[in-house]
Amino acid sequence: MKDFKDKIDNCKKDFDRAFRQIKDEKSLQELRNLYLSRKRGSLTLLFKDLTTLKPEEMPAAGRMVNSLKNYIQNKIQTLKGKFEAPEKVIKEMDLTLPGRKKYWGAPHPVHLFQEEIENIFISMGYSIEEGPEIETDYYNFEALNFPPHHPARDDWDTLYLTDNLLLRTHTSPVQIRVMEKHKPPIKIIIPGKVFRRETLDPTHLPMFYQLEGLVVDKGITFAHLKGTLEFFLKSLFSEKIKMRFRPAFFPFTEPSAEVDIGCTVCGSKDEACRVCGGGGWIEILGSGMVDPQVLKNVNIDPEAYTGFAFGLGIDRTAMFAYRISDMRYFYENDLKFIHQFFLK
Ligand code: FA5
Repeated sequence: MKDFKDKIDNCKKDFDRAFRQIKDEKSLQELRNLYLSRKRGSLTLLFKDLTTLKPEEMPAAGRMVNSLKNYIQNKIQTLKGKFEAPEKVIKEMDLTLPGRKKYWGAPHPVHLFQEEIENIFISMGYSIEEGPEIETDYYNFEALNFPPHHPARDDWDTLYLTDNLLLRTHTSPVQIRVMEKHKPPIKIIIPGKVFRRETLDPTHLPMFYQLEGLVVDKGITFAHLKGTLEFFLKSLFSEKIKMRFRPAFFPFTEPSAEVDIGCTVCGSKDEACRVCGGGGWIEILGSGMVDPQVLKNVNIDPEAYTGFAFGLGIDRTAMFAYRISDMRYFYENDLKFIHQFFLK
């Protein structure tokens, strides 16, 4: 039995030594044949040698040969995997074929539309600012001249996170953040997501995008506001777009106006239009002259400076620009709908 055990140990030592020399798949195959070949492999010979042992020695000796066989098989298999992997890939790869197109995703249509708007304002010398989506009551309301319990707060169905923290209902709080940091002249746009507790319908979403505009300088008047918005809307839609300013109220602007455009979906012609309700006009933005109190809140002297501001619904305006009858399509992720925007 001792002789047999020595044979096994020597066989293992020889294998290990030879295994360390293996550099390629061919020599590995040769080594495999040497040890595992069914006819003359070293392991096969060892199994045959078992018959020379006494019957009571055979089970233990058989286990030793089996365990050496497993050891050799595992080592060979592992190394074979390492040699084969790159070889196999290269063999299966046809380098002459054109590359396969990968769809990594694309900007969302509303985002593309936002960029279109941004470019018009950039061409007028505006720069872009951003602000947080989670706001404090102070920035979303108080600094914008909504005192606590003021009924104007009811116009915005607000989603509160705590008594003081909320999901911003509009991009106007960023006006305050920018004016706290920078002194006039200020000429900025602020795109971003806003949130309201709204019931979904063709023209209302609970999460949508706004684009705020703010200009503060010496001698800014309502005429600048009107001229800017007219230029912007004509650039975005067409020279022929119908627009009107309608008196409105916002606590942070005085005077204030909402801007409507002629319904692009029905051409102001369908009395049953789901979008304009048959009225022929659709509201796209709120605007006005920055209230002197708001300037005081950020330590800008309202005697020296004036300004105008506006807040446009990006999704809502995209809907009218693309003549889509329901804003919810933008968020249903139907690829047949989304792909149309990339074939323009
Ligand atoms: C405001 O949010 C003001 N902050 C706008 C403003 C800015 C006024 C600066 C004066 C100066 P309003 O709630 O009307 O206003 O919203 C502005 C625009 O956002 C609307 O004209 C509309 O285009 C869009 N909008 C409002 N609610 C929704 C909604 N639920 N879903 C999609 N778009 C909406």
